[in-house]
Amino acid sequence: MRVVVLTGAGISAESGVPTFRDADGLWEGHRVEDVATPEAYDAAPMVVHQFYDARRAALDGVEPNPAHVALGRLEAALGDDLFLVTQNIDDLHERGGSTRVLHMHGELRSALCRACGARTEWAGPMGDFPPCPGCGVTELRPDVVWFGEIPYEMDTIVAELQRADLFVSIGTSGAVYPAAGFVQYAARHGARTLELNLVESEGTSFFHESRNGPAGTLVPAWVDEVLAQL
Ligand code: APR
Repeated sequence: MRVVVLTGAGISAESGVPTFRDADGLWEGHRVEDVATPEAYDAAPMVVHQFYDARRAALDGVEPNPAHVALGRLEAALGDDLFLVTQNIDDLHERGGSTRVLHMHGELRSALCRACGARTEWAGPMGDFPPCPGCGVTELRPDVVWFGEIPYEMDTIVAELQRADLFVSIGTSGAVYPAAGFVQYAARHGARTLELNLVESEGTSFFHESRNGPAGTLVPAWVDEVLAQL
């Protein structure tokens, strides 16, 4: 059985990473649409850097929760039959034991050079405009996919959705495309579809089955079900 799992901000909520659209549409006081665009960066790079520098620094203070750990267990059991794609830019899946994670919206702990295109692992701030380790130009930006940009590795994701037997969406509002469309695409190609989310999402009606509750409870229970059937 080939399983594709898509995760969103909800899976990291119980770790203390704020979601984007739960509290009045604000992300730590900023509308995400006001900082996560190339236009916002061109207009005020320092504001955008401060925003992401704070998010990056905050990763040091959070830990994976039982949902991340359960997906690590699932990978250990399914191996290549599991494809995990996340919209999250945190690194909690990796710290929870997943070794193959496709970050379709990029990663906080990565820098993208606007001059040479190199992607470099990055732990510290970028707001002090450091030089790119590759080319030396001071044009590093967060390696995250902003509104109006194309998510990473869509070809790989589409191919995986086409051959999935089961598509599971965890902790995502279904508000942002293309990820919000994966459920219908997978279903059209024959997959059964399951949603695990705190509450009904914008996409709930597209799933064969939807379970509501915290990811830290729902995900380990679902993984146990899958493992019992192997
Ligand atoms: N367990 C499960 N689901 C939860 C939990 C929880 N503990 N807490 C919140 N949720 C759900 C919310 O009900 C909501 O449906 O997680 C979802 C989070 O939705 P968003 O904040 O919109 O996050 P996400 O879907 O990941 O956003 C998609 O939008 O801004 C962009 O690039 C950004 O990747 C992000 C994309």
